[in-house]
Amino acid sequence: MTQKNIVLLSALAAAVVALAGCAAPGTPPDIQTLADQTFKASFLPGKGQDLTRLEQDQTQKDCSVSRAAPTKALAATMMAREAQTIVYPADGKLMGDWKAGAKVFNGGFTMHIGSFMPNKPDAVHGGNCYACHQGEAKELAYGNMGSSLLHWGKNRGQKPQVIKYTYEKIYNAKAFNACSAMPRLGHKQILSPKQITDLVAYLVSPDSPINK
Ligand code: HEC
Repeated sequence: MTQKNIVLLSALAAAVVALAGCAAPGTPPDIQTLADQTFKASFLPGKGQDLTRLEQDQTQKDCSVSRAAPTKALAATMMAREAQTIVYPADGKLMGDWKAGAKVFNGGFTMHIGSFMPNKPDAVHGGNCYACHQGEAKELAYGNMGSSLLHWGKNRGQKPQVIKYTYEKIYNAKAFNACSAMPRLGHKQILSPKQITDLVAYLVSPDSPINK
């Protein structure tokens, strides 16, 4: 071993000792405290930003604690709780305007936290559906975390049950799948009931390009 290597090695050993010294033995860091510090420090709150939404609600806590695998009984309780959050449009019509729905489906602007992209309290939110789902056949840029929604209505028809399920699933995905990774778009007020009826029309209507 050359002199240079020995010097390097001892420097490395000193660094390891120094690092090991940082972790106080026997006291594991409180993960929640660490997460709070990191998130709250990096998401510098801008105007009109509400950081309370970084706090988990009961359903999210249940999913975290069970690592997204709640028991059957707990999942049933969670889904019942989530189903209760679903609000229908005042006129009871679940099929809106598919052209408006196409814009909501495609729109990516939602509820940003952080000074790099300041939240605009008056901005119209989008659903960012392409981030996770295939949509129209001509759109090639889509995520595949969720199932394909191409031909949603063409494959299922326009029965009232289909329309109702589509509305409710978009409003609160966790009402059907307790630890769904899909945002609870209506419940969390990302989208309004009116925007969700437009999405329903976009998914279900035979005129919609998603069914071509
Ligand atoms: C962060 C990813 C994500 C986003 C964004 C998202 N979804 Fe989903 N979605 C999922 C996942 C994952 C599933 C499948 C698991 C489940 O059922 O919860 C799903 C399921 C669905 C289903 C039910 C599919 C079935 O076969 O029953 C519909 C309908 C749906 N999403 C519509 C939408 C619409 C419309 C949007 C935009 C407003 C959207 N999703 C945004 C992840 C997402």
